[in-house]
Amino acid sequence: MLGIETSCDETALGLVEDGRRILAACTASSLQRLRPYGGVVPEIVSRFHVELITRELENLLAQAKIGPSAVDQIAVTYGPGLSGSLAVGVAAAKALGLAWGKPVIGVNHLQAHLYAALLGRDPMALTEPAIGLVISGGHTALILMEGTKRCRALGQTRDDAVGEAFDKTAKLMSLGFPGGPEIERAALRGDPRAFRFTVPKIRGGSPYDFSFSGIKTAVLHKIQKEGSLSAGFVADLAASFQSSVVEEVVMKAVGACREHRVPRLVVGGGVIANGRLRGRLAEVAGDFGIDLALPEVAWSTDNGVMVAGLGAHLKGQPLSRLTVVPDLSVEMN
Ligand code: KG4
Ligand code: ZN
Repeated sequence: MLGIETSCDETALGLVEDGRRILAACTASSLQRLRPYGGVVPEIVSRFHVELITRELENLLAQAKIGPSAVDQIAVTYGPGLSGSLAVGVAAAKALGLAWGKPVIGVNHLQAHLYAALLGRDPMALTEPAIGLVISGGHTALILMEGTKRCRALGQTRDDAVGEAFDKTAKLMSLGFPGGPEIERAALRGDPRAFRFTVPKIRGGSPYDFSFSGIKTAVLHKIQKEGSLSAGFVADLAASFQSSVVEEVVMKAVGACREHRVPRLVVGGGVIANGRLRGRLAEVAGDFGIDLALPEVAWSTDNGVMVAGLGAHLKGQPLSRLTVVPDLSVEMN
């Protein structure tokens, strides 16, 4: 199964056998081109995908030492994501499907992030009920999964996605982009108890909704009060911010497992590359006897392997029915 992922700023391809065995993976990141802008520029990343997708496909097949005839099916992310970026991947998948005479399967990017945690595990585990948590740059979703075909959203963000909160807060601290890894690095030298940032109580709606704009504003106020960004101050700020966000995410995810009596938590999305979050989740899940499935760090951020892996469990559709759905819900296959 070939997997194609172009929903945001990475042109990523993967080859997977039997939905589990990873044969090859290639990712071209547009980070260098985005640095001057400090964030994702949709127009630039879509052009980047057009430029790189064929080169990455050639790299991928060379890495796996196979020709196109060895590819049985093509899986592609069709949503959610940036429409122009998604369109490049979907058009490429359709073209390859036609040229090679192979079925094309549309994959939900958020579900693929969760599948990344199951790569290499027993595929039967997929049918068990679990709480799913997607924490990426564009999305925050807590869901109840009752098998691959049935997902129910429990909570989402009211404002910034978790990764977006890291990115925007890093910008306030004059750290680079993407902000998540930058904050994690700066936090290594800081004291997580230096500042107390409380996440506001969510009123109305779901108790599993998230809100991160308050904490971002609190960081801004601290910076304005301090007046300068010394290395020690930034380290303490990064460590305190990271610790508050991590505790909020851990408590909501574990709380959902306990309330729904589901002793299984599957987490996906770029933010789960964060070492502090991985450590705290393992600790707290362990305390409550929750089986925790995390993706390897390499498959936490956007990649083609997770798309190929999930695609192997889904059915292809007629090419004319496959289109991009930028606002695709986490519940939809
Ligand atoms: O899943 P992903 O690659 O793309 C989307 O689907 O959005 O996630 C990217 C996000 C970015 O916001 C980035 O700052 C965050 O994941 N991220 C991290 C870390 N590595 C990436 N956040 C916190 N700690 C990290 N180590
Ligand atoms: Zn993603």
